[in-house]
Amino acid sequence: AQPLRLGIAGLGTVGIGVVKIVQRHAEMLTARTGRPVTITAVSARDRTKNRDADLSAYAWETDPVALATRDDVDVFVELMGGHEGTAKDATIAALNAGKDVVTANKALLAHHGQELAELAEGAGRVIRYEAAVAGGIPVIKSLTEGLAGNAIRRVMGVMNGTCNYILTRMETAGLPYDTVFEEARQLGYLEADPNLDVGGIDAGHKLSILAAIAFGTKVSFDNVVLEGIGCISIDDIRRAADMGYKIKLLGVAQMTGRGLEQRMTPCLVPAASPLGQLQGGTNMVVIEGDSVGQIVLRGAGAGEGPTASAVMGDVLDIARGLRLPTFGQPATSLADPIPAAVSAP
Ligand code: NDP
Ligand code: HSE
Repeated sequence: AQPLRLGIAGLGTVGIGVVKIVQRHAEMLTARTGRPVTITAVSARDRTKNRDADLSAYAWETDPVALATRDDVDVFVELMGGHEGTAKDATIAALNAGKDVVTANKALLAHHGQELAELAEGAGRVIRYEAAVAGGIPVIKSLTEGLAGNAIRRVMGVMNGTCNYILTRMETAGLPYDTVFEEARQLGYLEADPNLDVGGIDAGHKLSILAAIAFGTKVSFDNVVLEGIGCISIDDIRRAADMGYKIKLLGVAQMTGRGLEQRMTPCLVPAASPLGQLQGGTNMVVIEGDSVGQIVLRGAGAGEGPTASAVMGDVLDIARGLRLPTFGQPATSLADPIPAAVSAP
């Protein structure tokens, strides 16, 4: 069988995680898809950097656009991050060159998802992005496949591991913000720009992607009401605990009579509830469908292994020939969302 040949741009936390899985599980991946999954070429900024994997068998491309358009690459795996510049340019180049794309880049999807989806579908290619929302939790597949027969009423949850880690460590260990922020960095949770995490922007990106799939609307990140966790003090956390609550950065997307409401803000949740019990870098996504009722998905939302696991799930879908539209239905059929006026808390 023809191998599925990957070109991986980005050899940081997630990229190296993907390389390790391809190397460690070569036989298993072939058995599961009927064809070998191989890496042809890789790219990062600094070729001399010491990385936690043997990359000697792969061609090196300094320019991710050149990597994305190589004749010997079938799938461009974009793990660089950033929603303008190289990641976007290379993704567009890959699609125009007839490659499928797998990415973990929620910022790219939140800002340019519609344009990229239309480009991919026009070119007969697919973009898969399971890792972009809630890391290792297969929430995109749940919405686009397993729950596709449901009208979705609401999607909500904790979608940023860094913020949940910081809030729960401040609460349980009584540690100051700066100390737990550094711990989160060590665990590989943080975005290159940590303001994306603590400002609620990263979680807002994720919520806007889920809302698009759940409600059949174009991604509209600009309409997410956002507030980060920078204003939360240990005193706030203690006062909430005294009343039987935890503070969580909670995202909610729901279609109301007035339109699509999307909020990503610190909220009080009952301490005894599943969301209240969520510790550390863990994520939780709650989906409410008209037939299925409520589904609760919980697991690691960030870090090398969990995120690479999700990337590989997408790669294997492509190896198996599964070709779903980007947002679960043709991009041209997505509606313009009517943003509901929501007053910030
Ligand atoms: P890292 O910062 O660890 O790695 C980024 C990699 O991209 C580095 O290898 C870097 O090169 C390379 N890179 C950046 N810019 C360029 C460029 N212009 N040209 C070539 N290479 C470039 O990021 P992560 O692995 O943590 O994240 C990657 C993506 O996955 C992001 O979109 C992120 O949002 C997403 N993601 C991350 C998760 C996580 O837990 N870390 C979870 C879910 C999604 P060099 O090493 O030489 O600097
Ligand atoms: N910075 C993100 C988080 C990585 O902390 O959840 C996963 O998307």
